[in-house]
Amino acid sequence: MRSFLFLLGSTRQGGNTETLARNAAENLPTNVEQQWLNLAALPLPEYVDRRHAPGNRLHPAPIGTERQLLDATLAATDIVIASPTYWYSVSTPTKRYLDYWSDWFDIEELGFKGRMAGKRLWVITALSEEPHQADALIDQLKRSAAYLKMEFAGALTGNGSKPDDVLADTEAMNNAKVFFASV
Ligand SMILES: Cc1cc2nc3c(=O)[nH]c(=O)nc-3n(C[C@H](O)[C@H](O)[C@H](O)COP(=O)(O)O)c2cc1C
Repeated sequence: MRSFLFLLGSTRQGGNTETLARNAAENLPTNVEQQWLNLAALPLPEYVDRRHAPGNRLHPAPIGTERQLLDATLAATDIVIASPTYWYSVSTPTKRYLDYWSDWFDIEELGFKGRMAGKRLWVITALSEEPHQADALIDQLKRSAAYLKMEFAGALTGNGSKPDDVLADTEAMNNAKVFFASV
């Protein structure tokens, strides 16, 4: 059974990215599980690269919000990064979550690398400029998916600045209706 994890990356609630994601998700088949997590409400500690720190070869076992995000990530067949475009990239909470993938990658007993392979990665983003201004964000996530041997399943963009602006982007709303049509 397919199980979708929606990771909301905006730093505000009810923004355009979330609205676009919820519109797309309405068209998922009813037998598909959905879990929605708000990354800003599940803060991860500032990421520290401990990979080569002397005497610190063992990663601390993930606890708290890190454990929650890790378990949700591993349990999903499909991960939807729903991040606004901030400076042509993903938002800070989204980027920090992605940085943690590097730690999880190195915790051997998790088998993270093997378990991420074959999952599908989807991207949904709202931005105030033209859609192609999200190219770097989409490329970043395509490359990240490829690195983990995940399948990049698609990107959905919508235009907006203040909340609900995206509802007036007819093309985006039409694209949202069919975004998950292959599921
Ligand atoms: C810190 C910040 C950086 C932004 N950078 C961009 C950008 O690079 N390109 C763009 O088109 N819009 C940019 N925007 C506009 C947002 O993408 C837009 O308002 C979007 O609706 C925010 O997502 P949300 O509504 O889901 O919170 C930026 C907004 C903020 C707050």
